[in-house]
This record gives sequence, structure tokens and C-alpha cells, in this order.
Amino acid sequence: MREFATFEERLSIWTTDAMKSVFGLEGTDINLGVSPTNNDKFGDYQCNAAMSLAKTVGKAPRQIAQEFADAAVLPDFVEKIEIAGPGFINFFLSNHALAAYLQSLENDPHLGAEQVGQGKTVIVDYSSPNVAKPMHIGHIRSTVIGNAIDRLYRYLGYNVIADNHLGDWGTQFGLMMVGFRNFVDEDALKAAPVEELERVYVASYNMSKEDASWREQAKAELVKLQQGDAENRALWEKFIELSIEEFNTIYNRLGVKFDLYRGESFYNDRLPKMIQSLEEKDLAKESDGALIVGLEEDGMPICIVRKSDGGYNYATTDLATVEARIEEFDPERIIYVTDERQQLHFKQFFTISEKLGMNANLVHVWFGLMRLPEATFSTREGNVIKLAALLDEAEVRALEMVKSSSPEMPEEQQRDLAKAIGIGAIKYTDLSQNPQSLVTFTWEKALNMQGNSAPYLQYAYARISSVYDKFHATYPEIELEKCSINIEHEIERRLAIKLSRFPAAIRAAADNYSPNILAEYLYDLAQIYSSFYQNVPFLKAEEGVRESRIRICQTTAAILKQGLGLLGIETRERI
Ligand code: ARG
Repeated sequence: MREFATFEERLSIWTTDAMKSVFGLEGTDINLGVSPTNNDKFGDYQCNAAMSLAKTVGKAPRQIAQEFADAAVLPDFVEKIEIAGPGFINFFLSNHALAAYLQSLENDPHLGAEQVGQGKTVIVDYSSPNVAKPMHIGHIRSTVIGNAIDRLYRYLGYNVIADNHLGDWGTQFGLMMVGFRNFVDEDALKAAPVEELERVYVASYNMSKEDASWREQAKAELVKLQQGDAENRALWEKFIELSIEEFNTIYNRLGVKFDLYRGESFYNDRLPKMIQSLEEKDLAKESDGALIVGLEEDGMPICIVRKSDGGYNYATTDLATVEARIEEFDPERIIYVTDERQQLHFKQFFTISEKLGMNANLVHVWFGLMRLPEATFSTREGNVIKLAALLDEAEVRALEMVKSSSPEMPEEQQRDLAKAIGIGAIKYTDLSQNPQSLVTFTWEKALNMQGNSAPYLQYAYARISSVYDKFHATYPEIELEKCSINIEHEIERRLAIKLSRFPAAIRAAADNYSPNILAEYLYDLAQIYSSFYQNVPFLKAEEGVRESRIRICQTTAAILKQGLGLLGIETRERI
């Protein structure tokens, strides 16, 4: 068994072995799991193996459970087992084992999380906005959710490649070129590049609707760009550079880093070959001058892979991208994070890549769009909210909070704290809900100090830190590392159980691509801690108990900090 194995893992292994020996199943290949309970009455973990083994063993589940309970010799981390209902086996962990586990976590940089990703590469394709267009709310959610998934997988030991698949290629660049040369306002371009590029595009698009020669010009410029004309190429590169620069200021504020910025253009040379493979495998056929892949049998509409004008489509690029990623990185999985409107696109090209025999495990993580009440954002224009303005507003509101709660704090520190709280609040609102549910954003909820919010958790963390600061100040001579943890009080035990389930929360969040599972865990943990704090004395407890409780506080703080960090939310020791 691995070092720092969780109780869940230890119980599963022990139960499997014990069942085999009690019922003479040594030769069989069974794997029995246990699951955490939420009700103390049923112990800490429960196993339903007696039900699943009824046939194999040839006895009633209740009887199997009873015989098992009578015959098995309990391992020392289990206090007792009980049988309930039709044959559930309930496990009660021993307090000393819980204490020892908490103590051992100090030596594990991963706080008990198994490094299941060792030696495996995962590509997370997220954010991926389009060049010369402002990020819309979908890109923002993709950035925040994708980054949490990125961090979770890294924590589990995966070699993660965060890839920003920019929309940097396509017919719009013809219109962009003509528009830019005719309409650009250099001052506006300096002040807000992406906004100006978009304005230029819209102006050019409007011209093209009325003016056939404008359309011709745009087409000619596009062809020149595609053929590698130096001047057009340079202009196109400028669009990309300006856009990335602006996107990066947002990523910096959000604490998001990419390993690669490989836009669609990166895969352009591969498109003809991709079409050839589709044709060779008889997957694509001509239809009205276009080349299509029929997906009727798979219950989906046809997918156009080459348009009648010879241009390629979004799906073609994505297919070529999968191929290139397999060749270069041999990923165990590729995770794409976008809004719900792209579900069909992903289903289509996933299906086609399978038909092509590409050996890739492709996952589309989609989320609903966030609902923004009209009154919430003064900066809202249509579907596009200006993220920078949203982040500014979050920081301003957080600063007000900090000024009133910590008026004596130096201003610089107040500002730094407000940044962590404001940005954290925006991210947490996104991450604390099931990605696929509709999220309604309100400032009241995002910044609610009493409720399920980032500031609530950040304050909880800071309060815990101050407890052990106070301890060190009062008892500077005591070396905590040398003191042992003891679990006695009921609330202490509840907290210890919750802490020991951190690795399971991380695994569940990563496996289900649902950072909200981790957020929920952290919120529960903070609440249990708070009743621990209210119900038992710390600094005033007798010697020994006092040190033990302070150590439990330290572990709670470490897990809160790490957990919030995996959601991309910063913590501060002092608030
Ligand atoms: N650029 C696309 C958009 O803004 C998102 C790209 C997602 N990634 C991908 N490989 N298709 O809608």
C-alpha cells in the first residue's frame, strides 16, 4: 500500500482481502469498495459488498455480513464494525488512527492525494478566445473553470499542458485587413487594441454588405495572406500580438498561465492532409461542391470539412489539432473547456476522430452561460462584458470591505488583500456551482461574508492562521512538531474525518471535471472548523490538549490554503 493511503483505500484493500479469506474467494478477482457516510450513525465508511457477493457466495447478504463481522479480525485503524439494513457493513475508525493520519499528512507535500497522474500527459485546451475580438462571458468561464481543472490535474501528478487554442485564422482576416488599412485610429489602437480591432472589423463587415468591390478586395487580401504575402502576414501577426498582449493582462490578473498559445493557424498546413485521410478512409464525400462527413448513423447532422469555396472549417482544424497533439505529446487525455453552445461541434469531431482511428481520449467539459442581471454591470454591452471593468469593480468593492473590517491595516496591504478577495470572489462564484447549471451572478452573493463565498473561506483561513500565531506568541518555547495529536471531543473527530477526506474530494473534482466538488468540500470544512472553534477551548485548554488542537488547526489551514489554491484563489495570513 502506498504511503499516506487514505482510509478509503485502506478499507477497500482490507475488506477485499478479508472477504476473500472468510469466504474462500482467494482465486477470484474481486475488488470491494467502501464509501464515506454522511451520518455518524452509520459509521465513517460503509460497504455494500455483502449484496454484490450474494450470488458468488450463495448466501443472503445479511448473513454474509454477519459471518464476515464475526470472523474478520479488525485492523487496528478500525474501532468496530456494525451491520445495518439488508447487509451493509459500517466501519467506525479509531480515534488514534485518525490522529496518526493527520499527523502523517505533515510529511506529505500532496496532503494525502495519490499521484495518479505520474508519467501521464493531459492537454487542457481552455480560454481560447478569438484574435481581434473581446473575450465574451463564455471565454471568461472557460478561463476560470479550465484553469481549476489544469491545477487539479497538476496536483495529481499529471504532466499538464495548458494550451490556449486561439481563434487566429479564418475568412474574417480578409475583412480585417481592408478594414484596418482604411479605418484604424492609431490612438484608439494604443488605448484599447482589441476593442479598436473589433470596431474596425465591424465597420469593414458593414461595408462589405453594401459594396461588392469591398468584398472583392477583402477576398483578394485573404488570398494574399493565405499565400504568405509578407505585408499581410506582418499585419496579421500584429493583430495576434496586440490581442495576446491584452488577453495576457487579464490572465495575469487572474493568475492564469498557459504553456502554449497555439492558435488554429498553427495547424493550417495539416488541413489538406487531413482531408486526404478522410477521403482515403471513405469518410468524406462531395455534396454540392462541399466535402462532408455524414454522421446520420451517429444521430448527428452532417459535418462540412471543406466548403464549396475550398475553405476549411472549424471541425477540420480541430481534427488536425488532435492528430498533431497525439504525434507530439502522446496525451493520455485531451480536455476541452467551452460553453454549451459548442456541444455538437465537439461530438461531431470526436466521432470523426474515432472513425479515423485516432487513438485519443477526448473530453468536452461544457458549461452554461452565466446570467448577469441587467443591473449588475454598468459595463455590460450586449453579450460582451468587459472583464477588466468587472475585475476592477470587484477589487473596489472588496477594498471597501477590507477598509471597514481592518481599518488599522496599512493601505498597501489593504489593496493587496482586496485584490485577492475581489478576484477570488469572481472565480469562486463560477467554481462553486455545477458548471452545467445556470449561474446568476450577484455582488451580494459573491462577496457575502457569511455565506458560501471566497471571502468567507479566505477569512476562515486567516482566522485559523491567527490562532496559531497567537499560540506561538504565547508559548514561544513549545515545539509543536514534537507534540502529538489526540482526537477526543466529538467535534474534533468530525473535523478530523473531514480533513482526512481531502484527497477524495480532489479526485472526485478532477475525475468529474467539477471544481465545484472541491469548493463544496472546502465550504463544509470551514463550517465544521467554525463549530470546532466555537465548541472547544484552544489556547485555554490544558497542556497537551492545547497543542493537539493547535496542530489540528494547522492541518485545517494547510488544507484550506491548498484547496483554495487549486481553485486559483489566493489566501492571506492576515485579514
Ligand atoms: N475559439 C473558440 C471560440 O471562441 C474556442 C476554441 C475551443 N477549442 C477548440 N479546440 N475548439 O469559440
